[in-house]
Amino acid sequence: MIIEIKEWLAEAAGYIRVSLTNQLTVSQKSGRTDLVTNIDEEIQSFFIKKINQHYPNDRILAEEKGFNTIDSFAGRVWIIDPIDGTMNFVMEQENFCIMIAVYEEGVGQLGFIYDVMKEELYWGGKNYGVFLNERKLPQPKDVTLSEGLIGMNAYMYRKNIYSAGEIGHASMGIRVSGCAGVELIAMLKGNHIGYISNLSPWDYAAGLVLINEFGFKYSNIEGKPLAFDKREYFLAATPAAYTQIQEKFIQ
Ligand code: IPD
Ligand code: CA
Ligand code: CA
Ligand code: CA
Repeated sequence: MIIEIKEWLAEAAGYIRVSLTNQLTVSQKSGRTDLVTNIDEEIQSFFIKKINQHYPNDRILAEEKGFNTIDSFAGRVWIIDPIDGTMNFVMEQENFCIMIAVYEEGVGQLGFIYDVMKEELYWGGKNYGVFLNERKLPQPKDVTLSEGLIGMNAYMYRKNIYSAGEIGHASMGIRVSGCAGVELIAMLKGNHIGYISNLSPWDYAAGLVLINEFGFKYSNIEGKPLAFDKREYFLAATPAAYTQIQEKFIQ
C-alpha cells in the first residue's frame, strides 16, 4: 500500500506542477479568502478513483465536494486534502501540500504530507517512524515554549483567541505559513515546537499519524480529543510546550 500511495502522490504532484503553466479556474467557497480551484477538484477525483479501483470497500473523507462528511470511521478510512494551502497555491505557486491519511477503526496507520514544489514527501506510519523521502528523520527534542518558534493561525493571533497572542509572546516568535501541512512539517523537522490553528479533519489527519510517532501531544485547544467531524481549534506541541500552554494559558 505504501508504494502505491507514493506512486499516486508522484503522479498527482507532477500533474499539479504542470497545471501551474496553465490558467487556473478559481472559485470562492464561503468567501473571498476561501478558494477552490479546478486542480483541487481534479486531484481529489484522481485519488478517489485510485482508491475505488484498488480498495473498493474503503470509506473516504475528503475536503472538496461530495466527500466532506462521513457516516462512520469503522473499517479503513482514507482522509484526503487534495491541496492543502489553496491560497498559497493560487497566490504563491508554492508552500502547499497534498495530504493523505489511512485510518483503521479510527486509529491512524499511515500519513503522507507532500510538499509539491519542494518535492519533499514526509511520510510514515504507526510504529514505523517518520521519513523525509527515503531518509528516516530523528525525533525532535522536547523543547519548552520559551525556547522555540510556534506556528499560528493569523486570525487567532490577531483576535487573541484562546490567548494565542500571549502564547505567541511567551514563545521565541510566531510563524504563519497559510498551510497546515507546512506547519506540521516544521514540527517534524524540529523547526517549530507547536502549531495552533482552526482546522478540519483533512487538515490534521495525516500530520497526526506523523507527529504521534515523535511523541508530540495534540488535542483540540481545550484538551479534548479531536472530533474528526468538524472544524475546531487545534493545538499540537512538544510535550513540554503542550503542558505549559494548557496549564498557563488555556485552563
Ligand atoms: C487551509 C490551510 C490553512 C489553515 C486553514 C485550512 P486549505 O487548508 O491549511 O493553513 O489555516 O484552516 O483550511 O483550505 O487550503 O486546504
Ligand atoms: Ca479549502
Ligand atoms: Ca487544508
Ligand atoms: Ca484543501
